[in-house]
Amino acid sequence: INTEQSLMRAMSLFTFNSTFKSNVRFCDIFSMTSDGAAFQYCCDEFIEEYKDQTFDQMAGTDARGFILGAVLAHQYGAGFVPIRKLGKLPGEVIRLDSTSEYAKNKLELNPSHVKKDGKILFTDDLLATGGTAQSSIKLIRQAGGQVEQAAFLISIPKLGGEKKMTDMGVKVYTLFEME
Ligand code: PRP
Ligand code: MG
Repeated sequence: INTEQSLMRAMSLFTFNSTFKSNVRFCDIFSMTSDGAAFQYCCDEFIEEYKDQTFDQMAGTDARGFILGAVLAHQYGAGFVPIRKLGKLPGEVIRLDSTSEYAKNKLELNPSHVKKDGKILFTDDLLATGGTAQSSIKLIRQAGGQVEQAAFLISIPKLGGEKKMTDMGVKVYTLFEME
């Protein structure tokens, strides 16, 4: 099975559900992550993309951003910084509102987790409106971390997330683009 076939296979495993969240085509990544070969293929693509760089830390947002973030943190010997939904992080936290395709959230970060001036890669499963990534990256920057790149499994450019990232000076890498 070659790279092209692996890509098609991983892509075919994502499932979409239009009744789960009203009026939104909900993308379920767990149908892909639960398949060992497909998950390994996807992770390897990210590892390849960033192999010539070093990072101090990965950061990812509760909950689906923890998966890829943790894999890449281990691969690069970097730390992992969680951005969590309201009320899940102990200690002194900073907080920002965020709006996604179908929800309003309050996101929190404990600034003591962030390496000051550290080079940090932000990761999440999906870049849709970009609201989640935008607020998450703002929090990391407020805490003194440097985020210039972000990695997502899937992007839906027409929802505006890619533009939000560009406007913030963040370069995006995604494995799959969807209409
Ligand atoms: C989903 C997804 C991204 C975000 C993308 O998270 O995991 O984080 O929405 O949407 P956006 O670009 O419009 O902000 P969700 O808040 O549903 O929570 P989860 O990760 O806990 O499943
Ligand atoms: Mg999420």
